Amino acid sequence: MLDLIDKQKLPKHVAIIMDGNGRWAKERGKDRLFGHQHGVISVKDVVEGSAEIGIQYLTLYAFSTENWNRPENEVNGLMELLVTTIRKEAETLKENGVRLFVIGDMESLPPYCLNELNEAMEVTAGNDRLNLILALSYSSKWEITHATRKIAQQVKNNELNIADINEDVFRQNLATADFPDPELMIRTSGEHRISNFLLYQLAYAELYFTHTHWPDFRKENLFEAVLNYQNRERRFGKISEQLKQA
Ligand code: FPP
Repeated sequence: MLDLIDKQKLPKHVAIIMDGNGRWAKERGKDRLFGHQHGVISVKDVVEGSAEIGIQYLTLYAFSTENWNRPENEVNGLMELLVTTIRKEAETLKENGVRLFVIGDMESLPPYCLNELNEAMEVTAGNDRLNLILALSYSSKWEITHATRKIAQQVKNNELNIADINEDVFRQNLATADFPDPELMIRTSGEHRISNFLLYQLAYAELYFTHTHWPDFRKENLFEAVLNYQNRERRFGKISEQLKQA
């Protein structure tokens, strides 16, 4: 599989909706947190695989704004899992050239979680092999509303003219301002939805859906998705013949 991948045609940025932890656990007669714990093994394997093939940006949808509405024990369990994983893995991320970022409404995260994340982001700030972006307490509608508020404030402060608001200004005010748009978005576990994830940034992304539940997803599944992406024709609104001329 690995040798079939064209290293010259890699997506720079892959985004993943890690779905199916709950169903995976239920199939085994276990509670949902058991599924999330196994999901962490997949996270590690996919981060490793991404670095191995040379993907530069990997965004993982780890917790949505809507996930706060889940039962309290699941929310607390997920936060703890996140903190313990980050604490355990920060050094390995550092040694392997991975830089950690978080996008989302950070202020809504519990302080112990925020502290751990800030520390890990600081420790890995010198790395540039793979940028690992965790979407936490994130939703696109939150992000777009937040960007609009920031832009309105700049106009109010006379720092920006309304006539100068263009796509570039808008993207600079998104949480993803420092990252290129994903070319490939993967969703596991059979649902065909975007679920409030990177709505603006996925405008031209190739979408890849697999029935595999997230806890069963491994780097080989990622490579398969990348290979599938490489066999598609990306036209960006043009026709095939125009692409061949370019
Ligand atoms: C979706 O499955 C998964 C989540 C909401 C959480 C994903 C989080 C992890 C894999 C752990 C994160 C850890 C790190 C370090 C990033 P679901 O619960 O919606 O599954 P279901 O649709 O089958 O119920």
